Amino acid sequence: MTDFATLLSPATIGALTLPNRVILPAMDMNHCDEGVITAAEVEHYAARAAGGCAMVITGASAVSWPLGATTRKQPGLSDDRFLPGLRALADGVHAGGGLLCVQLVHHGKVASVDSADGRPQLVPNPPPGHMDLSSLVDNPIEELMGLASASQGKPATYRSATADDLLWVTSQFADAAARVQAAGGDAVEIHGAHGYLISTFLSAAYNLRTDGYGGSLENRSRLLVEVIRAVRDRVGVGFPILVRLNGCEYGIDGGITPDETAATAQLAEAAGADAIHVSANAVNPFRDFTLGPLPAEVGQYRAMTATVKRAVGIPVIAVGRLLPEVAEEMLVAGECDFVSMGRQQLADAELVHKLATGQRGSIRPCINCYVCVEQNFFEAAPRCAVNPSLGNESATAAQIRPATTRQHVVVVGGGPGGMETARIAAQRGHRVTLLDRSDRLGGTMWFSQLTTPANEQLVEWLTHEVARNGVDVRLGTSATVQSISALQPDVVVVATGAKRGRLTVPGGDLGHVRSGDEMRALITGDSSGGEATGKRSLLDRAALAVGRTLRITKSPETMRSLSRRWMPIGKHVVIVGGGLVGLELAEFLAERERTVTVLEPGPHMGLPMAMPRRWAAVARASGHGVTLVRTAHVSEITVAAVRYTVSGAEPGESTAVEADDVIIASEVHSDTTLADQLRAAGLTVHVVGDAGTVGYIEGAMYTAHAVATAL
Ligand SMILES: Cc1cc2nc3c(=O)[nH]c(=O)nc-3n(C[C@H](O)[C@H](O)[C@H](O)COP(=O)(O)OP(=O)(O)OC[C@H]3O[C@@H](n4cnc5c(N)ncnc54)[C@H](O)[C@@H]3O)c2cc1C
Ligand SMILES: Cc1cc2nc3c(=O)[nH]c(=O)nc-3n(C[C@H](O)[C@H](O)[C@H](O)COP(=O)(O)O)c2cc1C
Ligand code: SF4
Repeated sequence: MTDFATLLSPATIGALTLPNRVILPAMDMNHCDEGVITAAEVEHYAARAAGGCAMVITGASAVSWPLGATTRKQPGLSDDRFLPGLRALADGVHAGGGLLCVQLVHHGKVASVDSADGRPQLVPNPPPGHMDLSSLVDNPIEELMGLASASQGKPATYRSATADDLLWVTSQFADAAARVQAAGGDAVEIHGAHGYLISTFLSAAYNLRTDGYGGSLENRSRLLVEVIRAVRDRVGVGFPILVRLNGCEYGIDGGITPDETAATAQLAEAAGADAIHVSANAVNPFRDFTLGPLPAEVGQYRAMTATVKRAVGIPVIAVGRLLPEVAEEMLVAGECDFVSMGRQQLADAELVHKLATGQRGSIRPCINCYVCVEQNFFEAAPRCAVNPSLGNESATAAQIRPATTRQHVVVVGGGPGGMETARIAAQRGHRVTLLDRSDRLGGTMWFSQLTTPANEQLVEWLTHEVARNGVDVRLGTSATVQSISALQPDVVVVATGAKRGRLTVPGGDLGHVRSGDEMRALITGDSSGGEATGKRSLLDRAALAVGRTLRITKSPETMRSLSRRWMPIGKHVVIVGGGLVGLELAEFLAERERTVTVLEPGPHMGLPMAMPRRWAAVARASGHGVTLVRTAHVSEITVAAVRYTVSGAEPGESTAVEADDVIIASEVHSDTTLADQLRAAGLTVHVVGDAGTVGYIEGAMYTAHAVATAL
């Protein structure tokens, strides 16, 4: 355990003292109206400032809006009519106790508004090579239309920047910075990363120019240096200028490297920058988005940040799935001076406040699901799978008020839906009893930790909060109408999860065909799902007995590790259903040296996953050798194989794939059986989570919030 002493200590950027080391990195909220900052935008940043974050950086704000803008919903900085919104933002953030930094950008080759308006996009030179769009095969037409909304579906055209264009760009950055300063902002960040205009000049992979802006590192950095100087001239000494750079570019030969970034950072420092913010980018914005700019690995950019830190004297800001413990470690080790925590502060606006008051266990964790940023692809405002307050701070705060009448609330099911209901209801003053037939809390989400380790933090947080709020948890308790009635509840919330069915094809009931519940029972040793136990082989039962005896099956980390050595699952596995669960299981099994085939009846894999995660999951599964078959309709299962046909096949044409084990990951349906019985018995009943509508963790958290705040 750490007291986060360094993370919570003050430090300076230029002349500005920050009360602690935690920064909110730029994240597009898309609440602006034709570039004008709205109240929703102010409320979002003010809430993070009030939560203790030392400095908030706005989402990318277009210096020459609408030119060089990526959406009409981002802040504009190109005209004095944007000043009142900026002032309101500065006032809101200051009232919350934080400092305001505005991110300045020209989006270059990603300026969709230019395309929509029929203008060419400003670039060093037309982008070399062709974008690999193959990931989009798993996007239905509605999503593809959403992806094209900012450009209105118009294809990009390009204009290679002339010297005059670059002079104009530089002056636009300087004017924008002056407006931020005039509006009461405390700093600006020049966006030199993520494939936008300045970063395409910096990258030798993109910048093929032969004039003074191309070739050597000094030349490629010239635009950045000129922008920094021009901004400094306008804002004067003492007004902090941050610069965001790519520590590397993933997926392209000859792209930016950490050593190059360190050299660029030195040039930026010499030109007058006060801090360097080390992010990263991936060239394929679909398949590789989870490498950069939104990394999936905790501390993924750590080494490249340390490289930059060694090269400069000005403060360095780290970013990239930084959990507080990792952030403290990096600060203590001198690898950086400040840390940006983005999604973690979308999930919990009070992160810093909770750290400072010894409530580490109460910080709602980000589960790295990419639901938030998916909305940006559609030009929409992010929402957070675990935090329904995002985008709606004051309204949701008002909902979690003390209950007018204290009721006895019985919650059935200890998955995310049940635990979130219990947490909020107890927090509001209700007496809450939570029943689960299993021997642990977490529900199906407990099982999901095996394939998706980030979910473990949510299980832990909900378990911690349920206990802290005094919920009476009764495990190993199967709820029936009789047992619930005996508790004399005022209201019952049914959160019993989905029903996982079987496949109604010949052979669908063979012993090696396992439903999701049977898989869960087999791997975790938790057989509370009932019917699963009947068909187990002697070997399966032995596996469970050993697991239970050693109690290893209660530690997801141990299970993840031990399952690499042994699992009661054969060499050849067919998974029917390529949704979220099917894809996650496929990767899990393939990593454990199983030969896996996924048969998805629909045309797209991984649909319930937010797009960036889906693209990455499909790429990873393929990378592990998983065979992914779309539009595959299973016709028969035998003891050794699964037979299927794909849409469009010739009559009679089918394929058989070898299978020692078959896992049914489709056939997941809502199940209100218990709720219906309880209602028939005259009880007041609400249903949350998958029991009502299969909506995964996000659905469970949102329905729980809606029900628990209304009790
Ligand atoms: C391998 C795998 C990976 C997954 N990964 C993800 C992911 O990354 N992201 C995501 O969003 N979703 C994921 N999911 C799905 C997610 O776990 C579920 O959608 C989510 O847990 C549903 O929450 P819930 O609260 O509605 O129900 P559940 O989590 O299913 O909980 C229901 C609980 O009710 C209990 N119960 C049922 N009947 C009774 C009864 N009569 N009496 C007492 N207790 C009862 C059960 O024991 C269980 O604990 C994954 C699922 C699997 C199988
Ligand atoms: C919804 C969302 C929008 C983002 N928009 C921007 C942006 O406008 N400018 C930018 O530089 N980075 C943007 N990012 C990247 C973040 O600043 C940050 O670098 C990234 O989320 C990694 O940090 P994290 O793992 O702590 O979230 C965005 C991230 C998210 C989640
Ligand atoms: S939506 Fe998912 S990735 Fe985004 S902040 Fe929330 S939990 Fe994290």
